[in-house]
Amino acid sequence: MKNITVVGVGYVGLVTAVCFADLGNRVVALDINEERIENLKKGIMPIYEPGLAEVAARNVKAKRLFFTTSYKEALADAEFVFIAVGTPEGVDGEADLQYVRMAAESIAQNMDHPLIIINKSTVPVGTGDWVADIVRQNQPEPIDFSVVSCPEFLREGSALSDFLNPDRTVLGSEDLEAAERVAQLHLPLRAPIMVTDLRTAEMIKYASNAFLATRISFINEIANICEALGADVKEVARGMGYDKRIGHHFLEAGVGYGGSCFPKDVKALAYMAQVHGKHPQLLHAVMEINAYQRKHVILKVHELLDGVKDKTIALLGLAFKQDTDDMREAPSLTIAEYLHERGAHVRGYDPVAMEVAKRLMPYVEMCGDAYELATGADALITLTPWNEFKQLDMERIKSLMRTPALVDGRNLYDPALMHRIGFAYRGIGRGYNGAGEKA
Ligand code: UDX
Repeated sequence: MKNITVVGVGYVGLVTAVCFADLGNRVVALDINEERIENLKKGIMPIYEPGLAEVAARNVKAKRLFFTTSYKEALADAEFVFIAVGTPEGVDGEADLQYVRMAAESIAQNMDHPLIIINKSTVPVGTGDWVADIVRQNQPEPIDFSVVSCPEFLREGSALSDFLNPDRTVLGSEDLEAAERVAQLHLPLRAPIMVTDLRTAEMIKYASNAFLATRISFINEIANICEALGADVKEVARGMGYDKRIGHHFLEAGVGYGGSCFPKDVKALAYMAQVHGKHPQLLHAVMEINAYQRKHVILKVHELLDGVKDKTIALLGLAFKQDTDDMREAPSLTIAEYLHERGAHVRGYDPVAMEVAKRLMPYVEMCGDAYELATGADALITLTPWNEFKQLDMERIKSLMRTPALVDGRNLYDPALMHRIGFAYRGIGRGYNGAGEKA
């Protein structure tokens, strides 16, 4: 059992705290947001993540997981302190580090024994050194500490199992003994542990996310070429994926990536490159293709309906991906806003994100389920690949719609079947024009 403190109870912090507690450690999770901490003490999670509430409750009951707003209390017995605060996007695409700075200052002011400070937030390369400077400058008197970078690779919706079954743990530090102690903490996860220097570890996170985003933009570009040549991108991706050098992951064409990581991290990496006089051409192309995918879907709606003014357009899925209520950089935001501004009546349904979505797009009429959503609609657009959408009664959906136009932004349905049912169907990269007609 180790004593661990986690600063920040957002996505990454909460999952980290809950999972380390579940591995048998004593974990204190700290946040400066009192309401969040009060809610957590009552078992109310600030985010939707499958399994999180249950595992948190189990560990609170076992007296391994505690919540506080007091740094003094949180650091009293700590050996390891994880910084897992938010790093939102700044004005030019650079990461905004104000919360990391606040956390580092507070740790420095409240520590009374040596600590290993571990950075989990995605931060620009060089931030580890900067954190060390801040801690040094804010300590009332010098106390030993080390900084280790340990980037997270959690996906929303499967964050707990990603944490407990990682592909690898990356640790970066100039202090090898500290890195070794953090490595011990991760041994129960039974994954390869790589120890490297601070800046390299920080760069691994950006390079990994940028590479995955590149795969998505790559397959989206291929999808658009498929539409000109009469090929089916789903089959193309399947055929490519059997090559072990390529693999099947992250080759699903669609409406483009969203979420709290890919958009922000690709932009931040491009920004870092530019600040240092480099020209990150590929990263710019990745972002451009991603933005285009949203437009591509809108163009398909225009084409099928001959304009959107006064039409009722139904968005099936609002979250940026399935199994989450996260709306950050969700394609639905851009698409709903565009349609609304052009005079369309926009409706939406999502299994879990509607509460969050309501606040962000008050002009969207929220519906109770997919069938209510389809009733009287002129077009249905699939934007989130929730499992429950894959088995809908599409004949019923079609019969409920005013005009049966289906723009499948996530390629959930079989084009031939949709045509048979009577939809005017457009997928992404599914044969000529995405309409399912192949060469
Ligand atoms: C991602 C990384 O996977 C994770 O390692 C990192 O720590 C945080 O960012 P997340 O944002 O939760 O995780 O979602 P992910 O499942 O990676 O999907 C990102 C976006 O890409 C979603 O909008 C998803 O719909 C989209 N996507 C993913 C595609 O469009 N096609 C694909 O083939 C895969």
